[in-house]
Amino acid sequence: MSVPLRLRPLVLAGSVALAFSAAAGSADVVAPTLPAVQPSNPELVSPAIEKRVNELLARMTLAEKIGQLVQYGASGGADTKAGDTAIALNPETQAHVDALALARKGELGSMLNVTGAARTKVFQEAALKSRLGIPLLFGADIIHGYRTIYPVPLGLSATWDPQLVQDLSHMSAQEATTAGVKWFYSPMVDISRDARWGRSTEGAGEDPYLGAAIARAYIRGYQGKDLAAADSVAASVKHFAAYGAAEAGREYNTTDMSDVRLRQVYLPPYKAAVEQGAATMMSSFNALNGVPATANSYLMTDILRKEWGFDGFVVSDFTAVMELTHHGIALDAATATQKALLAGVEVDMMSHYYDTQVPALLKEGKLSIATVDEAVRRVLRVKFALGLFERPYSASSEVTAAVDAHRPLVRRAAEESFVLLKNGGQAEPAVLPLSPGVKKLALIGPLADDASEMQGAWGGAQHVPDVVTLRRGLAARMKAQGGELLYAHGTDVETESESGFDEALKAAAQADVVVMALGESSRMSGEAGSRAHLDLPGNQQALLERVVATGKPVVLLVFSGRPLVLDWADKHVPAIMAVWFPGTEAGNAVANVLFGDVAPSGKLTMSFPRAVGQEPLYYNQFPTGRPPGDADLTKPPGHDTAFISRYIDVANDALYPFGHGLSYTAFGYSDVQVSRAKIPVAEANHAGATRLVSVTATVKNTGQRAGTEVVQLYVRNLGASVEQPVRSLQGFQRVALQPGESKRVTFQLGFPELSFWNAHSQQVVEPTQYTVWVGGSSTADQQASFTITP
Ligand code: BGC
Repeated sequence: MSVPLRLRPLVLAGSVALAFSAAAGSADVVAPTLPAVQPSNPELVSPAIEKRVNELLARMTLAEKIGQLVQYGASGGADTKAGDTAIALNPETQAHVDALALARKGELGSMLNVTGAARTKVFQEAALKSRLGIPLLFGADIIHGYRTIYPVPLGLSATWDPQLVQDLSHMSAQEATTAGVKWFYSPMVDISRDARWGRSTEGAGEDPYLGAAIARAYIRGYQGKDLAAADSVAASVKHFAAYGAAEAGREYNTTDMSDVRLRQVYLPPYKAAVEQGAATMMSSFNALNGVPATANSYLMTDILRKEWGFDGFVVSDFTAVMELTHHGIALDAATATQKALLAGVEVDMMSHYYDTQVPALLKEGKLSIATVDEAVRRVLRVKFALGLFERPYSASSEVTAAVDAHRPLVRRAAEESFVLLKNGGQAEPAVLPLSPGVKKLALIGPLADDASEMQGAWGGAQHVPDVVTLRRGLAARMKAQGGELLYAHGTDVETESESGFDEALKAAAQADVVVMALGESSRMSGEAGSRAHLDLPGNQQALLERVVATGKPVVLLVFSGRPLVLDWADKHVPAIMAVWFPGTEAGNAVANVLFGDVAPSGKLTMSFPRAVGQEPLYYNQFPTGRPPGDADLTKPPGHDTAFISRYIDVANDALYPFGHGLSYTAFGYSDVQVSRAKIPVAEANHAGATRLVSVTATVKNTGQRAGTEVVQLYVRNLGASVEQPVRSLQGFQRVALQPGESKRVTFQLGFPELSFWNAHSQQVVEPTQYTVWVGGSSTADQQASFTITP
């Protein structure tokens, strides 16, 4: 049992101060009493499971115990035999391991990215024939679908629809479990505020509140109500922690931040996932405040185990244990192993360190057998809870039939993920939705007919022919409407050659409307996809400018795994829509939205900058002592606008801010009210105080057609002991409205929404003033206020 780790009544990190001085002039505030830490997932620590774990552990040899802590992949196909299971390990060690041989000896605990019913069966059979027959756990990077692919996570987050995220996660768990996979290296819940960081595409964007809501939804979808169900998988929440804060947006780079920022901005989604019962976590590659996450006991033990009561296990990221030597905090493999295990990383993914180093560390007394036993116990717990001992094999069929049944769900996901950034303007008419009467539609661009690109950066068993490209979807649509689709590739994503321009311009000249499919290739975001430039790659910008110069109405569809700089397009292209990488049903979803069967409802979850030099750019920034106030930042500084926090060559704000997204109708907000004007701090500063004040507002569909609006609630807290963001999201709801219809929307605010982290790493509410805004983006202007009184 890991009980001793849980006896922590208070959230106290670093400092143990119990009382402290709050805002200047306010009374002393005592940190709230928080409930004793509960098991993060009772399924993992039920008495029945603990009994089985203890009995098994008592029978294991040291080699078998260590085996549970190592993980390898394998080369070779579905007809795997001993000879082709050797996996080349990291270039550093040059070691090769025969995974099948290890499985036969019972010295392998889990496998990485080995999928497929037949292929997993080869290894599982070997493991089951070993002395104790402990089944293998097959883990894989199933990030946005296994066979049926849905939008990349950043796009999916733009739906602001946790139920949809849950349904899709469950769908991919259903598909992957038929292929033997019982463990997903997902969700990635790293907050990312820097569009240069390629892995922004794998997360839910820049906001902790939304990130936490989406993290919970993934866990519900993957793990279901019962981990032991045949179609449940264990989630691995990654990458713990603060990987998304990589300095300068450069992949794997260091992160350094205050405890306040860590806890207020970066930790909430991981914590939400643990509270939802996540069975495993993955340590991140980066160092946090000088200590690599994979050896960081403050993260892995103090926060994850002691504060949050985590009962599952932590797997290192790929060769991250070995990389502790690169970080310079371990001079050799033995020290790296010792540091990672002691910090709380139970499973070594691919470093080939735990199996080679642990025996000697035990002999030398540098590790105790109790540490090894505790690690093994955590791994076995998850295996028992998943029902692997009862059902070690997947269903015998591979997934194929599921695709057609799952198309409607992934199509809806794609439709909801699209964010209409611009549609006409003050002097320009709206181009979208397109009229069904359009006779000739030109579709131009490198992403217009590339099925593989539509699937984004990750996938398990995706099958290119399943994908409906834009060309296919729009051609079918035009034909059905008695019109014609003209197609031209135009250019490649990254090339200098203009050989396709003439054909593109010819198509544009003949068309009534032009749709341009431009952006990044899917491999330009994701792991190792950091960019220092955020423009359209290659010569796509030049092609866009030439097509716009024809004078034809242009709709720009932007494919990307991150915010791009679209400054020129914003000024010159009448309609712009972010479509991310939409998945298997890309073409049908685009056709449905362009022609208005579905009105766009997506809202940005990362700010789109005006210039790359603004990065990291996020709406929930902190105030400065020299705020720009009402100064016009689009103009160069004058004598009264020089010494303020601003750039001299670009406005401070985002081109398209967090929460922004248009529809084919419009929404108006009015009458924001709070239920109470004053709340005593003694009532509010209490972890169980969940409904302290309600905020209500009226949202009205003021346009001509039905639509769905994501109503957003933002909060600002003034007068606290630690400065607070200029506003932060604390509620959202998707609301469907008919033309002319209005609804009263209610949000509840309690301790979780009003509290913040103070300089003593305590989560508190202080006597301060709150302003709330309700609206359709982070620039919402309808407001109300209340006070927390001493
Ligand atoms: C990535 C992880 C991934 C792992 C296994 C690493 O390089 O950072 O996100 O789960 O590989 O494929």
